Amino acid sequence: MDKFTIHKSTLSGEVCVSGSKNAALPIIAATILTDEDCILHNVPDLMDIRTMVKILEGLGKQINFENGTMVIKATKKCGYVAPYRLVRTMRASFCVLGPLLARRRKAKVSLPGGCVIGVRPVDLHIKGLKLLNADIKIERGYCVADGKNMRGSHLYLGGQFGSSVLATDNIMMAATLIDGETIIEYAACEPEVESLGLFLQKMGADITGQGSPLLRIRGVKKLGGCEFDIIPDRIEAGTFLAASLATNSPLVIKGANPFHLTSAIEIVKEMGAEVHIDNARSIKVSPRGSLKPVNITTLPYPGFPTDLQAQFMICLCFAKGISLITEKIYPDRFMHVAELNRMGAGIQRSGPYAIIEGKEKLYGAEVMASDLRASAALVIAGMAAEDKTEVFRVYHIDRGYEHIEEKLRKLGAKIKREKQ
Ligand code: EPZ
Repeated sequence: MDKFTIHKSTLSGEVCVSGSKNAALPIIAATILTDEDCILHNVPDLMDIRTMVKILEGLGKQINFENGTMVIKATKKCGYVAPYRLVRTMRASFCVLGPLLARRRKAKVSLPGGCVIGVRPVDLHIKGLKLLNADIKIERGYCVADGKNMRGSHLYLGGQFGSSVLATDNIMMAATLIDGETIIEYAACEPEVESLGLFLQKMGADITGQGSPLLRIRGVKKLGGCEFDIIPDRIEAGTFLAASLATNSPLVIKGANPFHLTSAIEIVKEMGAEVHIDNARSIKVSPRGSLKPVNITTLPYPGFPTDLQAQFMICLCFAKGISLITEKIYPDRFMHVAELNRMGAGIQRSGPYAIIEGKEKLYGAEVMASDLRASAALVIAGMAAEDKTEVFRVYHIDRGYEHIEEKLRKLGAKIKREKQ
């Protein structure tokens, strides 16, 4: 397992964000819906992407992936099983269920299980597919589904935490090839869900409402192949916004769509930094010394993204005053708090709340990464803290950030990857 050795750093210059992991994963799954060739551009080379490739190869796809371009072709093999050994390493694999049911009318997909950020249930996925008249049983940790009698329906997909990204993806994909009209109320509006809807439309699906909480899908007989560009990763862009504030470094973040990050940019401005958006593909952030405390509540899009909560917590550790973070999506997503307090932060956690008392400094330490976004937060903390920080188990970060240490080193960060 690798570790990162990081020293206090100031950053400067321009950084280009990669394609969005969370946009690419469901789109790769959606290619199950056709036997024609699909060509995807700007696909990030990440562990999670490679896992999804393995799952699709197991289902009969032939995939060539190089220099950000993925060519996905069908073979004669028509598998329908997504095995536990792969699904347990990446829960997004569960979004092959919908397209398998639509295209092959049967599926056996391992339940994903939980992870450190929460229980991660899939009840909304199963409820939605059952409302489309899929016959679903849970057998030995697998979701075993029969889709031969599926038909469109009007369904409400909201849960106790609001909308669900991957449940919306699963139901939207399932509805494209079954008879009848499907209306999804309380659909997720994330840009990654919208881009899946646009991809399906390009394949020939009859979908309206992409990016809104109300989706209308009319089943068609067949979907074709197409060519598609993956949108930029708004969470990677937001991670660099946090790095800029935490290290008091001006940055230009290129390739990002600022309009996918309005909530985070608002917080950056509230904390006292200047943000300048020139054209729709770059964000210039200029911290102005001390940071003001703010309150952040994570919400479904367009609210503040839970995937930026840990990164922005680092910035609040340096704010002059008391800040409050309310985690409304994953109330247990605070594994990073204990590690930050070991670096001298003053954070108190109570249920879905974290109260952060700003400090002058954080101090380097040996810290453990726990999940993808918390790992990114610890890297930012290492660049902002005094002395040396060692972040262990960086395989977490490799799941979602393409060439992260190269990008940071180009900005002036003192970061080195070492075999542990
Ligand atoms: C997606 O996960 C993202 N993953 C997550 O990013 C992100 O944190 C999450 O959306 C929220 O924005 C991908 O897109 C691959 P949800 P997803 O269903 O779809 C509850 C990262 O770091 N829920 O929108 O699994 C759930 O527990 C990852 O890239 C149910 O109760 O999340 C959570 O509290 C981490 N029942 C809330 O809904 C269900 O059936 C939102 O989860 C499904 C979800």
